[in-house]
Amino acid sequence: MLDIFTLGEEVLRTENKKVTVFDDALRMLVDAMFDTLVEADGVGLAAPQVGVSERFFIVDLHRGDDSRYVFINPEIIETSMEECPYEEGCLSIPGLYHDVVRPRRVKVQAQDLAGKYFTLEADGLLARVIQHENDHLNGVLFIDHLAPEDRQRIERQFAKRQRKGRRSK
Ligand code: NI
Repeated sequence: MLDIFTLGEEVLRTENKKVTVFDDALRMLVDAMFDTLVEADGVGLAAPQVGVSERFFIVDLHRGDDSRYVFINPEIIETSMEECPYEEGCLSIPGLYHDVVRPRRVKVQAQDLAGKYFTLEADGLLARVIQHENDHLNGVLFIDHLAPEDRQRIERQFAKRQRKGRRSK
């Protein structure tokens, strides 16, 4: 399993480089990320969350081959005018959730593990996870979308949990 970096760690806020080499090392890293995602019981994981400052993320909506996606060098090329709220969480801010308003549908262009370009239109949970994970590639976390008081409350709760976690170790 890979370590998942959490709120306050610099790697979540640094610039991420485009992937230029599509090799076995990348495929092995992506495999390890899928294992880590299942273990952590999440639906999406971006490279910077495992300490890799590169532009790619994975999605696994319901633990089946047909629900697994790898997005390398993604660009969200269209978003719907229509927006909706959805309760988001993040493996880098474990156990804390808040509604975030985002476009309901997106069109994304990305490369697969072979470097081949593809375009995907998504709505529902997939559209939501794509937008959340794509934010990670730009150093953005879901709490950045919240009103200041909601964001600060989550930051305080997170800090409190971190202190408790350290004491119990
Ligand atoms: Ni996240």
